[in-house]
Formats: sequence, structure tokens, C-alpha cells
Amino acid sequence: MGDDNGETAGELEALRPSAAEPGDVDVLELRHVSKSFSGVHALHDVSLRLAPAEVLGLVGDNGAGKSTLIKLLTGYHRPDEGSIFFRGKKLNNLTVRRARALGVETVYQERALAEQQALWRNIFMGRPLTHFGGVLDVREMRRVTSRLMRESMGFTSAILTPDTSVTGLSGGERQGLAIVRALHFEADLIILDEPTMGLSLSETEKCLDFVRRIRSAGKSAIFIDHNIFHIYSVADRIVILDRGSIAGEFETSRYTLDELTAIMRDVAATGRFAEPKRRTS
Ligand SMILES: Nc1ncnc2c1ncn2[C@@H]1O[C@H](COP(=O)(O)OP(=O)(O)OP(=O)(O)O)[C@@H](O)[C@H]1O
Ligand SMILES: [Mg+2]
Repeated sequence: MGDDNGETAGELEALRPSAAEPGDVDVLELRHVSKSFSGVHALHDVSLRLAPAEVLGLVGDNGAGKSTLIKLLTGYHRPDEGSIFFRGKKLNNLTVRRARALGVETVYQERALAEQQALWRNIFMGRPLTHFGGVLDVREMRRVTSRLMRESMGFTSAILTPDTSVTGLSGGERQGLAIVRALHFEADLIILDEPTMGLSLSETEKCLDFVRRIRSAGKSAIFIDHNIFHIYSVADRIVILDRGSIAGEFETSRYTLDELTAIMRDVAATGRFAEPKRRTS
């Protein structure tokens, strides 16, 4: 587990991307990463890349290693072997705080938000705006929240104000809040581990819209979902994990949903992805 000791504020600040960096460097790269838990290979020799403004769909059965991969990226676990690069820089000992300083944010179905707290507190949780001298600038935090609600979250209901508690939001609105918060704090990589779990149809649509918004904001995302329709409708590229290894990787636009479903079935049966025969018309 990532231990959070030792980083100074200056060191964490130095991890932030600088404007001088070229924009076309991969946001993320994993090279030959493996991770075992008491002899069980949760991940084996996994290599993958993520480009700026790309949404990567990560699919695979229960226990395939998806969450383990995410936990390596968020500094929660360390790889046994292999390397992780953020924007071309190799990171030897990623911790939860370092990952956050690098601009990695995670959105889960549960756990992401403080239920009983006002929206503005949730937006600024852990990163409050303060006046000179450290006093909380509540007025400014309310003002920014109100703007984000209207402009980014598309909240039009007059009932919802920055002082509404999260308890009053639908599941889709909650995911929206978590994603907008990540974008507001300039996350470069937003990881969504089954964000649509337990959402109604219309809330799911809203959540998927927020994922698309990540790409239009020029940021990248890794999107995990058991529903292939969801993955297909938002991902630029899909990586299939099967028992800890990458079984296939392909661009979404090259396949129809039917073809993709057939591929998934095939991988589940054989453990690998074979390029389906293309129609020549
Ligand atoms: N902390 C841990 N200790 C021991 N084994 C673990 C631990 N975390 C994960 N594993 C094992 O590693 C494998 C991969 O688990 P992981 O949670 O990454 O799968 P997943 O693809 O996210 O599955 P799901 O779709 O069910 O969420 C599983 O066999 C799991 O039991
Ligand atoms: Mg999981």
C-alpha cells in the first residue's frame, strides 16, 4: 500500500505538469508491469499507453485485474516488476499523494463524496480556498461552485444550490459532481472504476456525457465498466484484460457494437483477441 510519508509541499508541487512540456507526450505508460498477491498473479506483464484527450475503456471479467491496475496508478499498490511513466517521466515510488499531485483523480460509484456535506464543501474537499492568513474563503468557494453547477454540471434546477447536501443529488448528478471537481482541479487523468454501477438509465446517460466531456476538455480517462454498450459509446480505444494479462487492444471506431460483442465472447472463451475477418465492401 502506498505510504504517504516524506513528501514536502515543494516536492509535490514539482510533480505538477508545466506548460513548457510538449502536449503530445503520452499521459501514461505502463511497461511490463506485474503484481501478485501471495502468489496470485493479479497482473502479469502489462504494457499500455494513454494519449492526451483519449478515453481508454478497460474491460474484463471479475478478477481480471482492472482494479489492481487502477490501484497501481493511484499509488495504492506498488508494482512487483515493471515501470510506470507519467508524461514520459518514470515514477519509482508512487504514493497516493504523489499520484494526486501528478493530476490523477479517481471517481468511484460510492466513496467519492461526503454525503452530508454541502456541494461547495465537496468541490473543495482537501483543497479549500483561503484568505491570506488561512481563513476559509467560503464566499468564493460558493461562487465557484455555483458557476460550475451551471456551466459544467448543467444543473438548472433552482432547488439545487451550493449549499444543497449531496444527499439531495441523484446518482448521475453525484458522478457529475465528482468528474467536474476533478476537471476543475486540472486532473490530467481521470480514472472511473465502474461509475455507472447502480445508476438508472437516464443517470447513466448523464454520467457517460460527463466522461465525453473529459475528452473535450483535453484530458484523458480510463473508464471501467462491465457494460460493453457503455464502453463502446465513450471509449476511443479498448483494452481487454483477461486473468491479469492484456488479451487484446483495439480502436473502437474500427468495429461495430456487434463485432465488439463477438470479440468479447471470443476472448472470454479463448483468452485472446483474434482480429475478426473484415467485410470487404
Ligand atoms: N489486496 C489483495 N489481496 C489479495 N488478492 C487480491 C487483492 N486485490 C486483488 N486481489 C486478487 O487479484 C485478482 C484481480 O483482482 P481485481 O480486483 O484487480 O479484479 P477486477 O478486474 O477489478 O474485478 P471486478 O470486475 O470484480 O472488480 C483477483 O484474483 C483478486 O482476488
Ligand atoms: Mg474491480
